[in-house]
Amino acid sequence: MQTLGIIGSGNIGSAVARLAVAAGLNVIIANSRGPESLQDLAAGFGPLARAGTVEEAATLGDAVVLSIPLKAVKDLPDGLLAGKLVLDTSNYYPSRDGRIEELVDHTVTSSEMVRDQLGADQYVKAFNNITAAHIPALARPDGAADRSALPIAGDGAAAKAEASGIIERLGFNTVDAGTLAESWRFEPETPAYGRIYFSDPDVSDEQLMDTPPGPTPAEQVRSALDAAARVDVAERRF
Ligand SMILES: NC(=O)c1ccc[n+]([C@@H]2O[C@H](COP(=O)([O-])OP(=O)(O)OC[C@H]3O[C@@H](n4cnc5c(N)ncnc54)[C@H](OP(=O)(O)O)[C@@H]3O)[C@@H](O)[C@H]2O)c1
Repeated sequence: MQTLGIIGSGNIGSAVARLAVAAGLNVIIANSRGPESLQDLAAGFGPLARAGTVEEAATLGDAVVLSIPLKAVKDLPDGLLAGKLVLDTSNYYPSRDGRIEELVDHTVTSSEMVRDQLGADQYVKAFNNITAAHIPALARPDGAADRSALPIAGDGAAAKAEASGIIERLGFNTVDAGTLAESWRFEPETPAYGRIYFSDPDVSDEQLMDTPPGPTPAEQVRSALDAAARVDVAERRF
């Protein structure tokens, strides 16, 4: 694993890119507007990073982080990520992505839908349950006592193991949250989403932005996954 392709240069894509470069990986990062629009951003990540096209990020990456709005996945070229290990950060927001019946009625999870749209057989949901700002704030070297954990979900053991290795290299332990069908357990509004990475997850909404991030060990993530109840995604707001 030498090169990480990153499709999506926004909050999450950029946060992951910085960690990847810090971990000694080459990064090729892409957005919808083309590499010219990303020259300054990529330069800021350091010499291991460069801007590329979506196709370059997909083909040159040994693994690919997909971090674009859910509604944009259908705009990617057919077969783009076939055969690639994909780490998908996406969540479903009806207000942004539109009403999607098979998600609203829980026929599939958003991860299963994206996986099917991509035709990706090595597909892992990851980095979708943590606020972008908390990614650099909580990343720690392997073995650090205050290292946090991220849940991952996927249908293939080998893909999950490889994704776990990448995430561990970037600064987090991982917790296996099961299959893609179970990945709702760490989507927005569940106990394992967002608030869990604050030092006090139970503060009021008003106090939340004044609350620093806090280390979130694997046991805490596991308990939150176990406590999750499936939410009505049609009611979800930003
Ligand atoms: N922000 C968070 O804290 C957070 C936390 C957890 C999960 N997530 C999820 O992670 C995903 C990304 O979120 P974000 O906040 O990083 O998004 P963002 O800041 O809005 O960035 C989105 C990125 O996707 C790119 N993009 C859009 N359509 C594309 C296409 N067809 N091809 C290539 N690139 C495309 C955009 O490029 P252009 O700018 O060129 O259009 C932009 O770089 C979303 O599903 C979000 O719900 C976000």
